[in-house]
Amino acid sequence: MKALILAGGKGTRLKPITHTIPKQLLPVANKPIMFYVLDQIREAGITDIGIIISPETGAYIREAVGDGSRWDSNITYIPQAEPKGLAHAVKTARPFLGDSTFLMFLGDNLIEGGVKSFVKEFGSHSPDALVLLKEVPDPSLFGVAELNGKGEVVHLVEKPKEPKTNLALVGIYLFTPLIHKAIAKIKPSWRGELEITDAIQKLLDMGKKVRSHILTGWWLDTGKKDDLLEANRVVLDSLLKRDVKGEIDSKSKVVGRVQIEAGAKVENSTVRGPVSIATGCQVRNSFIGPFTSIGAGTVIEDSSIGHSVILENSRIYRIERLEDSLIGTRVELRRADERFNAVKIFVGCDSSLEL
Ligand code: DAU
Repeated sequence: MKALILAGGKGTRLKPITHTIPKQLLPVANKPIMFYVLDQIREAGITDIGIIISPETGAYIREAVGDGSRWDSNITYIPQAEPKGLAHAVKTARPFLGDSTFLMFLGDNLIEGGVKSFVKEFGSHSPDALVLLKEVPDPSLFGVAELNGKGEVVHLVEKPKEPKTNLALVGIYLFTPLIHKAIAKIKPSWRGELEITDAIQKLLDMGKKVRSHILTGWWLDTGKKDDLLEANRVVLDSLLKRDVKGEIDSKSKVVGRVQIEAGAKVENSTVRGPVSIATGCQVRNSFIGPFTSIGAGTVIEDSSIGHSVILENSRIYRIERLEDSLIGTRVELRRADERFNAVKIFVGCDSSLEL
């Protein structure tokens, strides 16, 4: 079996951060989302992995993932000239996929517990496709599935205005090569994309077997700012272990599940986990509260931060209360005078703010 990761697209919902970082490389608990995807694929025993990349962001993905040796895997990069849809990406990957069965994983999706059991289920029941579903509060943002009384998928619609169920299609699918026949039969949707949802519906129309599995654990689709903060919260909460390698001075307190990489420094500060602080960070006279991740080389002084994601090499000075914030790389944020207290920010890379 092969795996196909979709890391093309434009990431417009996370602009301006995604001007310089592809959304699949945004960090969750200081690790790029796509690295979790690669970990989960590897854990399922798949080592032949294709990655769909776009002309805008392909170089960043190649640089971060490299030749795949970190995962003991072979990586094939597959450029997709334009983001014409998930089924179009599969079409583009056909020379790589050949007549293999494959696991398709959207590069900005994460699920609790990995995909090993689904790969096994696909092998033992031999359906033509296996889809994962999850109950969500707002299904109109996703592909939506209808099941019959026996729990079998009978109908799939991409982002319906009036969804018939609350079962969203998770961005992880298993296919036999029959999917290529189905893709050949579909037309672009109203948004001009070849939808994988329509191709799976086509499999159903062709009388093929589509198996589904309703997820009970968490599913994170990290396409928007609040989703990224939520992904950071969930991953810190469920996966982070205490591991303090950086330098902590005697005036500091580091409480609970906190990860501080070697080369980071904490002086006269309190860090209350779960928190992840990457290498080269300097935290001085500050409080870092739960569900915060701070990227490599960032400096924080005289500030208090909670439930936020701060990327690499940013500077934060004298911010009394920074929360629910996503801060890009090389951002400088400093409080100019004493009048303001709470600050909420969604700011891109290469910015400088005085508040
Ligand atoms: O996240 C789950 C949802 O993903 C499903 O419920 C939907 O049925 C499915 O269509 C998809 O919807 P999105 O609108 O969220 O997909 P998005 O455009 O965000 O693309 C998902 C990933 O695939 C993202 O990492 C970018 C990549 N991609 C996207 C397109 C359109 C490509 O590599 N090539 C493409 O042409």
